[in-house]
Amino acid sequence: MSQKINGVKGMNDLLPGEIEIWQFVESTARTLFGRFGYGEVRTPMVEDTALFVRSVGEETDIVGKEMYTFEDKGGRSLSLRPEGTAPAARAYIEHSVNNQEPVSRWFYMGPMFRYERMKTGRYRQFSQIGAEAYGAKEPAQDAELMDVVVQFLEALGLTDVTLNINSLGDDNCRPAYHAKLVEYLNAHKEELCADCQQRLERNPLRVLDCKNEKCQAVAAAGPNVLEFLCEPCRAHFTDLQRKLGVLGIRYVVNHRLVRGLDYYTRTVFEFIASHPALGTASTVGGGGRYDKMMKGLGGPDVPAVGFAMGLDRLVLLLKESGKTFAQRPDLFIAVADEGSQDEGLKLASRLRREGLKVDFDTRGGSLKSQMKRADKSGARFTLVLGEQERTTGQAKLKPMAGGEPVPVALDSVAATVRAQPEAPAPAPAC
Ligand code: HAM
Repeated sequence: MSQKINGVKGMNDLLPGEIEIWQFVESTARTLFGRFGYGEVRTPMVEDTALFVRSVGEETDIVGKEMYTFEDKGGRSLSLRPEGTAPAARAYIEHSVNNQEPVSRWFYMGPMFRYERMKTGRYRQFSQIGAEAYGAKEPAQDAELMDVVVQFLEALGLTDVTLNINSLGDDNCRPAYHAKLVEYLNAHKEELCADCQQRLERNPLRVLDCKNEKCQAVAAAGPNVLEFLCEPCRAHFTDLQRKLGVLGIRYVVNHRLVRGLDYYTRTVFEFIASHPALGTASTVGGGGRYDKMMKGLGGPDVPAVGFAMGLDRLVLLLKESGKTFAQRPDLFIAVADEGSQDEGLKLASRLRREGLKVDFDTRGGSLKSQMKRADKSGARFTLVLGEQERTTGQAKLKPMAGGEPVPVALDSVAATVRAQPEAPAPAPAC
């Protein structure tokens, strides 16, 4: 017997039954982001490795440990994208978008790849929905993006999520904070994990997002970045909070929030859900301002701010909500005899063309087995087609949730089904 081949660890298949939740999240995002003026961009899944090294940062876990990097047949080092911000910025620069409009608002959705230790809500191929705004340095832009997320979560019906915000300062004030942080971390060097002892030398901020418990305890008692902000950064952060107040967005200031990517300046934020279904993977989205990235990638001096939501985690939360996302069939057509099979197939085809969602058992079989299937399908109505119906052109719509059958002419089934008031879906038969 041939050996079975399984999917790659940490990369999931999405099948009917679950995919409807994904489609709901994606279509909600498209509608909502569109309302805010964000247009969709699609960039390749593979980029030059240097793009992520120079933006996300060599010392981050994402670039240092988690990238899927390979050499192509031409000897180039390429990587599966671990995130969407750098590819979008690369595309923005490459297409000189700043010369076409002063402010651009983009969104994207799709798979990202990180070789992470897997657990609930943490995978090696996962999906993000993200948005980036280019060209506005004002705190109002940061607030608008947080508003996008808040309204997105509301539209999904996910309300138990807390917005955490912080400011990491800029090139002007961060060095003083760095110096203080290094001094503090050096005093606690022995308590840090081996990785962090190295990070301390090369990129001390990264110690603050180490997942090791001991390092987290050291980080928690460290210096507060907000006390080191220069006047313009402090004013930006204060104004952002005022604007969040104007929009009625609730948040908490968390001075320990640093995020796991190197490109941020000033504002950083995360949306954290408290549902146990996510375990430790409770951050459903995060983002921040990255005013220096474009220039660092050889592009124009254009400020930017953005976020990305973890689609897998949003879906986990929605699964817990117990809501139904699959659209149930309007009608199940069952055939009472062999001679009605072709007519049933034809009727199903016509009604689908007329816009109904129709289920029809192409295997035929006994009426009893078809009725069982009709029950399981969750269809609103069943129509039994037999010799009598074919000859008279009249049939009955049986409401699957119970109630009186509705007489119907075979040439006006779609209109009759549409005219019936929606009853709650019947519980699926086990
Ligand atoms: P990030 O925090 O690395 O930010 O990822 C954003 C979200 O993607 C996380 O909050 C989480 O929900 C989800 N996520 C990350 N890794 C995984 C994983 N292994 N499995 C499942 N979900 C995951 C970024 O990627 C930035 N590009 C966000 C951004 C956009 N900043 C500015 N603009």
